[in-house]
Amino acid sequence: MEYSEKVMEHFMNPRNVGEIEDASGIGTVGNVQCGDIMRVYLKIENDIVTDASFKTFGCGAAVATSSMATELVKGKTIAEVMQITNKAVMDALDGLPPIKAHCSVLAEEAVQAALWDYAQKNGLTIEGLKPPKDHKHEH
Ligand code: FES
Repeated sequence: MEYSEKVMEHFMNPRNVGEIEDASGIGTVGNVQCGDIMRVYLKIENDIVTDASFKTFGCGAAVATSSMATELVKGKTIAEVMQITNKAVMDALDGLPPIKAHCSVLAEEAVQAALWDYAQKNGLTIEGLKPPKDHKHEH
């Protein structure tokens, strides 16, 4: 299995690791097959994601995709964040081996789950946003 240099670089040196204490939204998702868990924290001010962080208990590709996803969402509007698919995260990392594509899906789902949490807390509706599938790992 071959990882791109960017994937290895983000795995070895992940950006935005940790919690945001006064996060506007927190999303936790898991993959039942591999058991990996990803939590994303977003700080949102005036419709803009001003900060993002993550904690991932998972494989190297999950760490790299959460690192890249949190980088990609920073400074974006909510509508722009909604356009950041797992494919966009993979592209930004110069690709992932096909059997690791599901790891990038976790990153997309975690960001959207954090947006969902933000919307719920603020009584907002975000165009195109669906409720997170997996609540099992929320503690
Ligand atoms: Fe589980 Fe990568 S193997 S997220």
